[in-house]
Amino acid sequence: MIDHNTIQKIIDTAEITEVVQDFVNLKKRGVNYLGLCPFHNEKTPSFTVSPSKGIYKCFGCGKGGNAVNFVMEHEHLGYPEALKYLAKKYNIEVVEKELTAEEIQQQNERDSLLVATKFANTYFQEKLHKHNDGRAIGLSYFKERGFRENIIKKFELGYSLDVRDAFTIAAKEKGFKIDYLEKSGLTIVKENNQYDRFRGRVIFPIHGLSGNVIGFGGRILKKDVKAAKYLNSPESEIYHKSRILYGMYFAKKSITQHDKCYLVEGYTDVISMHQSGIENVVASSGTSLTVEQIRLIKRFTPHVTIIYDGDAAGIKASLRGIDLVLEQGLNVKVLLLPDGEDPDSFAKKHSATELTSFINDNEEDFITFKTRLLSKEAKSDPVKKANLISDIVRSISVIPENITRTVYIKECSSILNINEKVLYGEINKIRRRTYEKEYKRSLSPDSTFQQASPSVPSFVSDIYSEAQEKELIRLLLLYGDKTLYTYQEDKYDDERIVSVSEYIISEILNDDLEFKNLIYKQIFQEYLEAVNQGKFIENKHFVYHQDPEISKLSADLLSKPYTLSKIFTKAGAHVATEESILKKLVPETIITYKRKILEVAQKDASNKLLKAQEQKASLDELNNLQKEFMQINSVISAISRDRGWIAFK
Ligand code: CTP
Ligand code: MN
Repeated sequence: MIDHNTIQKIIDTAEITEVVQDFVNLKKRGVNYLGLCPFHNEKTPSFTVSPSKGIYKCFGCGKGGNAVNFVMEHEHLGYPEALKYLAKKYNIEVVEKELTAEEIQQQNERDSLLVATKFANTYFQEKLHKHNDGRAIGLSYFKERGFRENIIKKFELGYSLDVRDAFTIAAKEKGFKIDYLEKSGLTIVKENNQYDRFRGRVIFPIHGLSGNVIGFGGRILKKDVKAAKYLNSPESEIYHKSRILYGMYFAKKSITQHDKCYLVEGYTDVISMHQSGIENVVASSGTSLTVEQIRLIKRFTPHVTIIYDGDAAGIKASLRGIDLVLEQGLNVKVLLLPDGEDPDSFAKKHSATELTSFINDNEEDFITFKTRLLSKEAKSDPVKKANLISDIVRSISVIPENITRTVYIKECSSILNINEKVLYGEINKIRRRTYEKEYKRSLSPDSTFQQASPSVPSFVSDIYSEAQEKELIRLLLLYGDKTLYTYQEDKYDDERIVSVSEYIISEILNDDLEFKNLIYKQIFQEYLEAVNQGKFIENKHFVYHQDPEISKLSADLLSKPYTLSKIFTKAGAHVATEESILKKLVPETIITYKRKILEVAQKDASNKLLKAQEQKASLDELNNLQKEFMQINSVISAISRDRGWIAFK
């Protein structure tokens, strides 16, 4: 663990232009620098670096972030590795945090396990290539499957002799403790017996992201035995099945280059596709994807194509799992291979060009694929069709991007022959429900900053107005420390300064409002905590936030070109900077935010009222609803009245 102060020192020292300039040729353009984006192909530069904000942003592909993000993204490093890279560049001594006894033990265990798997990996390869049995059984099996020598070496395939404990004995002779052999899963210890887990199997080593071997898969060769076809290493300190994807180490470079990742099922699929020249491919190893695996892909590309066997009975069963991928904001496509083929067999029959063009011609967007697949069955059955709609709607509702959802809604409405509005309604219902659940879960019971006397009635406070929330956060980040206005309680008192952040915070808290977008809410909370402790919170804090969503959003907000407005003075029109019109802009934003909330509430309330009337509700209920409605109306008109004088002098 890198010690906190060191991290701070690195962040404070790393100069974004210097960091970027090691990889990108930058030219000064006004206060910023401009260059060709290293993350996508472009001919005219849209990659911008802002030294004052410490961020980079590509207006072509959208990538952006701070100096650490840049190194992570460009060099494919994890957070700690990127920090170490920067430390080296700036000659900063990296102080590792004092590890606790437990952490040291864990570290040692990890290291010991890695040494053991490394030894095993060499051992199995040696047996495959040098031992008579290995060559006769293992190597000839691979060759028969069509794997060429170079690909066998590249993937470090191996063979484990069909002897009870040949490996274990060899490892112990080398001085490996049985404890680690057992923990790594290479040796199975039962009572007083020790035997090799992978005996008599060909070996597929599993590499971690940095190329260390962290586990193994072993395929049985005998046809008639009842044992499982594949055996895999058990979970250990170094091998977490849910967090790795087979082949990622060999694929990552190609995934970035092509900005695309193919997802297949098994070891042999990955290897065969590599052999035929397609290297941006990883396997889930026969299980459904986990969130961690999806995030792993997302580190390299947002575009995934899932390749299904032509006869996969399991496609329908796997559809639900893909919602998880959509939820992470990835673009998912699906490719169905011809009947009877899997990627392994198909890749062997075709050249790389054939394979690529087959994929390009046949891959289909996931939602469309799912809709089409299911609607075939649902054709004339209204109940099935209703189920299908809610199924598709659920898939669309998890997609985080608003625009993407809209596109899908259009498309599905035409495939399913359903009004778009109906789909919208259903989707919003689901989104709102999940949203509320998360929101309730996130509510902290001890929020210290609670003031009463709401002016927006409390029963309407659960309405979400994305654009206004975002705008408030933007103002907070850009101008939080700027003076909004000054006032004197009394003629003889000192002048008191009210900053933009104080004003926004008090407006939100006084009305008991809360941001509904969880990222904005988090930023607001952190701002609030700092202000409560009398600290000023710098933009940097958010740009370098450990939550990537927050750091990305704030980098985005801070890199937005200012919206300029024309101000008319006696001398004529001139363009005002945003900062010069904060007195007007900030209160107006607050008002617009409240108005948005109230208008939705007004509509809701009037609908409720109408319905209650129709359904002949009790007089009490009618009165209550009427009261709510009128309460909202009166706040709206108060806000409109305020508009005239709201800008501060
Ligand atoms: N798998 C597993 N354990 C099993 C069966 C399968 O871990 N008992 C995993 C393996 O990672 C395997 C993948 O699921 O690669 C896909 O299974 P399958 O299609 O049966 O295997 P293939 O990779 O096609 O292997 P082969 O062609 O050698 O049969
Ligand atoms: Mn197969």
